[in-house]
Amino acid sequence: MDPDSNPKPGAQPAATPGQANTDGAAADAASTCIEIGDFNAWYGDYQAIHQLSLSVPRNQVTAFIGPSGCGKSTLLKWINRMNDIVPNAHAKGTLTLKEDESGQEVDVLSPSTDAVALRRRIGIVFQKPNPFPKTIYQNVAFGPRLHLNASRGEMDELVEWALKKAALWDEVKDRLHQSALGLSGGQQQRLCIARAIAIGPNILLMDEPCSALDPASTSRVEDLIFELREQYSIVIVTHSMQQASRVSDRTAFFYQGRLIESGATEQIFTMPREQRTEDYVSGKFG
Ligand SMILES: Nc1ncnc2c1ncn2[C@@H]1O[C@H](COP(=O)(O)OP(=O)(O)OP(=O)(O)O)[C@@H](O)[C@H]1O
Ligand SMILES: [Mg+2]
Repeated sequence: MDPDSNPKPGAQPAATPGQANTDGAAADAASTCIEIGDFNAWYGDYQAIHQLSLSVPRNQVTAFIGPSGCGKSTLLKWINRMNDIVPNAHAKGTLTLKEDESGQEVDVLSPSTDAVALRRRIGIVFQKPNPFPKTIYQNVAFGPRLHLNASRGEMDELVEWALKKAALWDEVKDRLHQSALGLSGGQQQRLCIARAIAIGPNILLMDEPCSALDPASTSRVEDLIFELREQYSIVIVTHSMQQASRVSDRTAFFYQGRLIESGATEQIFTMPREQRTEDYVSGKFG
C-alpha cells in the first residue's frame, strides 16, 4: 500500500480549495455528512440539549462554540454513541449519518445500529491526549488490528501512512517501538489523531483538541486540521474564538442547550444575526 494513498474503501474526493461557504445558508443536503433534526438529550431528568437541528457539511471544518455546559460535548458524544455507556443518558430526535457515494444512511440513535461499526466511520479525539500505555506503533495499529485482517507489511504501511497524515512520522519513525507515553503532549495529541484516522473514518470529531497544548503544538494541530479537511468532515469544539476563526469553515453557536445560530464562520464572527452570538464572540460573556 502506498503510504501516501488513502486506504479507506469509500474514500471521498478532495474538497475544492475555496469551497468554504461564504454565505449563511444551511449546508446543501448533497454535501451533508450528518443531519441532526429536532434533537433532544437528557441526563436523567436534566435536559442538556433542546430541539436542535443542524446539518454538518462534508469535507469542511465545523466549529462548535459556546459557554461551558451548553451541550457541545453531549452532542459530540451522541454523534458517535459514546453516551451508550452513561446509564441515565437518553435522547430523542433524528441523528442521521449520510454515507458517501453509496447514498446509504445510518440512523445513529437506532438500537439496531452497531455502535462499534459506527465508530469506524466517526473517529473522536479528546481534550486530553489519551494514548494507550503501549508503543507508538501499537497505538496506531490497535484499531486496524481489531477490524482489518492485514499482513505485517500492510500494517507497517498503514501505521506509516497514519503517522504521516498526522504530521508525526518524522518525529517518531526511529522510536516506533518505544512507549507512546514518552512523547510530548503535542506529539501525543497528534498520535491520537493518527490512531483515530488509522481505522479509516469519514468524520473526525475533536473535543477541544488543543486546550492542553502549548501554542507551538496548537499551531501544528491546527495546520493538520486544515489539511485533513480535504479528506474528512471535521467537527471541532473549541473555547478559542481565534481558533474557530482560523480553522473552521462553518461555526455553530450553542447556548444553554440550544443552537442559537450557525453559518459560515466569517458571517458568525463579523455579522451574526443574533445578539447573543455577537455578545459571545465579542467576549461579553463566556
Ligand atoms: N454524565 C453526565 N451526567 C449528568 N449531567 C451531565 C453529564 N455530562 C454532562 N452533563 C451536563 O450536561 C450539560 C452539558 O454538558 P456538556 O459536557 O455537553 O457541556 P459542554 O458545552 O461540552 O461544556 P464545556 O465547554 O465545559 O466542555 C451540563 O450542564 C453538564 O453538567
Ligand atoms: Mg465539553
